[in-house]
Amino acid sequence: MRKAILRRAGSPFSFGGLRQNTDSILPSAPTRFTRAGMDFEHITHPAPVPSDERDAALADPGFGTLFTDHMVTIEYDEAKGGWYSATIGPRGPITLDPAASVLHYAQEIFEGMKAYRYGETGEELALFRPEQNARRFNKSAERMAMPSLPEKLFLESIRQLVAADRAWVPSIPGGALYLRPFMFASEAFLGVRPAKQYKYMLIASPVGGYFKSGHEAVKIWVSQDYVRAAPGGTGAAKTGGNYAASLVPQAQGIAHGCDQVVFLDAVERKWVEELGGMNLFFVYDDGTVITPPLTGTILPGITRDSLIALLREEGLTVREELYSLDQWREDATNGTLVETMACGTAAVVTPVGTVASPDGEFTIGSGGIGQITSKLREKLVGIQTGKVADTHGWVMMLD
Ligand SMILES: Cc1ncc(COP(=O)(O)O)c(C=O)c1O
Repeated sequence: MRKAILRRAGSPFSFGGLRQNTDSILPSAPTRFTRAGMDFEHITHPAPVPSDERDAALADPGFGTLFTDHMVTIEYDEAKGGWYSATIGPRGPITLDPAASVLHYAQEIFEGMKAYRYGETGEELALFRPEQNARRFNKSAERMAMPSLPEKLFLESIRQLVAADRAWVPSIPGGALYLRPFMFASEAFLGVRPAKQYKYMLIASPVGGYFKSGHEAVKIWVSQDYVRAAPGGTGAAKTGGNYAASLVPQAQGIAHGCDQVVFLDAVERKWVEELGGMNLFFVYDDGTVITPPLTGTILPGITRDSLIALLREEGLTVREELYSLDQWREDATNGTLVETMACGTAAVVTPVGTVASPDGEFTIGSGGIGQITSKLREKLVGIQTGKVADTHGWVMMLD
């Protein structure tokens, strides 16, 4: 049974309609928010999608192809002293000068997070660790020589959009409203230097499962010809170029019947790093779990961080250490490695069943979902949707 939630809205520290879920087992220091300090101009949508059409689309939203009615835009200009003009209005095409530097030098960052239907009735909506996305957004901005966006403004944009598009949050099992905040260099110039003008935008897409195969184990392709990120590069930032670099190997993987690509390190081509959009965990029969360390070439996943905490709570030993492809193959073959999980906001927790490369294939465990993967997914999804108590203060309720 879901426990009562203490509303913080209205207290001097409340942040608009966002409030930390403070279940009876309180985290030591619940996050407090103050207002974002910028008013949003609301532009009325002249023709939102009719409710019957919207509800029909929400019955099977797929992933990333269906969009809501609204979007947020905030402008930045160094000459104007920073961020200004926050609006929420109808979603639609934007105008960009052909010399906008993002089109030439890819100065761009983004985030990915979800709003979930929460509790027994699903009437309430919740976010999962959104302040971590705000923080990572600014880390990415720093690496890409872009201005930081105040965390409160980032969170307020999320609150505003979900409030405007709350009817777009799917009710189907596993469904959520995927939120895509992004920022790009909009200044028109052709010199290579950090831009002085940027646009922050937020759009939303109702989603179901990430993989077409649903909850089945995925097959992944080892990219031997290409790497995703090198030491000193931008691998730890959520910036478009990393994903552009992953598209050819991804296409190779698909051509070999795989769902995703796993990248090896750029120097020795030996150590397993991550998938194109997910972090990895390797589970042993003695209760040890290994995950690649955050050495600057992989994305510090929020799901990764959450799973480390949940695994430790379950009494498992988690080690963040380098893990080689050879070790992976050997341990899967001799049976000591019993599960491999891929994790991320989009795909939640997904079992890796088979690993394929030009050298051949190997299977992990039974090739299907393992016990730990299954238990962890249930727990994480349970926390995100209010079916399992949130003892960490990870959930933030939306009014
Ligand atoms: C390259 C990459 N690794 C890992 C992740 C998982 O990160 P998170 O758990 O924060 O969604 C993502 C998804 O955002 C990603 O794009």
